[in-house]
Amino acid sequence: MISFRGSGGVEKLYLKLIPQTTILASLTKNMSSKHHLAAVLHAKGERLNVENIPTPTPGPDDILVEVKSIALNPIDYVMRDFGFAVSSYPTVPGSDVAGTVISVGSNVPGSTPKPGSRVFGFAPGFFKNSKVEYGGFQTRVVLPATNVTPMSSGMSFNEATLLPMSVLTAWSGFYSIGIGRNTKLSSSDKQGFLVWGGAASIGTSAIQIANMMGFAVYAMASEQHHSYLKSLGAMKCFDYKAPDALELVVKSARADGLALNSGFDAIGQVHNCAEILKQTANGAPKLATAKRIDPLAPKADGIEVNFIKAPEDPKEQTEHFSFVFNHWLKEKLEKKEFTPSPKIHVVDGGLQSINSALDELKKGVSGVKLVLEV
Ligand SMILES: NC(=O)c1ccc[n+]([C@@H]2O[C@H](COP(=O)([O-])OP(=O)(O)OC[C@H]3O[C@@H](n4cnc5c(N)ncnc54)[C@H](OP(=O)(O)O)[C@@H]3O)[C@@H](O)[C@H]2O)c1
Repeated sequence: MISFRGSGGVEKLYLKLIPQTTILASLTKNMSSKHHLAAVLHAKGERLNVENIPTPTPGPDDILVEVKSIALNPIDYVMRDFGFAVSSYPTVPGSDVAGTVISVGSNVPGSTPKPGSRVFGFAPGFFKNSKVEYGGFQTRVVLPATNVTPMSSGMSFNEATLLPMSVLTAWSGFYSIGIGRNTKLSSSDKQGFLVWGGAASIGTSAIQIANMMGFAVYAMASEQHHSYLKSLGAMKCFDYKAPDALELVVKSARADGLALNSGFDAIGQVHNCAEILKQTANGAPKLATAKRIDPLAPKADGIEVNFIKAPEDPKEQTEHFSFVFNHWLKEKLEKKEFTPSPKIHVVDGGLQSINSALDELKKGVSGVKLVLEV
């Protein structure tokens, strides 16, 4: 027996597990408006199993979305393979989705997109005790209204699905080192901002936001991405593979008269970033890092290094999500002031390809986000 927790209570049913190899056609035949397909993780280290599961009713503050595109993030294979951030099984991993609103809860604000609207959003499974309905890898997902943005005209579902994790993490990075939402610098302030891993999905959004705040952005990325990253707002790009990369950045900052007081490390290069900030800052340097900080690792002296995370206080966290999705992204996309990034790479086969797509991501990608059309 498998039990799935619906928003309105625990729904139990007997399901004959459909093997991974079963073709999509036979699954679709079993679907009704009360059921949909989900890539379910039953235990740590297992492959995701695409199954027919009951479609929940959204809770009062949630909306139900018919998913059209899903983007993949490194945490998804870390959840599958190592059980990271999974608090109970079965669960459905996945965070980045775009699709069409089916229904909305009784308590959502009037500004929430109505049924039929095209939206994208952040599926918060790991913030919600791994509840199945909040995982992104399924054809119908429940999203809190605070995590949803209406799609701007002309935007495709694939473009929209690039945004949630990337933009949320970039904003959480600024939050974690105390750079305020209303930061507005001018070129005369001579404030630089280092993004190590500029071509990483989260790095591309950090570049765009830092540039909008008025920082002069220095990005570390492979040379083939430099012109793209400059088009997103990087002032200068450096090849992290060059043996003298650190020296080049420091020399350049001095020549430009810039103080690099803060940075965003998308990769886990704390010591290299710290070295640059130490040599170029004129204040107390701060670094946001996307990789967990090993408590046993040597400390980066003279630098405040904070792991990137959304606010932990529930009220503050809800407000943070709402700021990112209901307000900031909505406005910037309407005004065409933010570009969904990086580039899209569609993996064929829809939800059925979820495991092989995650395997591909695990091997490493360069300047692209893997997307499934469902
Ligand atoms: N803390 C959080 O809340 C949070 C949230 C989201 C993601 N993350 C973590 O952040 C990391 C990045 O996630 P993502 O989705 O942005 O990754 P991604 O897009 O898959 O990253 C791929 C990129 O990493 C770049 N890269 C690899 N090694 C590099 C190095 N030594 N220096 C500079 N760039 C390097 C590559 O750049 P080139 O192509 O230029 O070689 C490649 O384009 C992952 O570890 C993820 O788990 C954390």
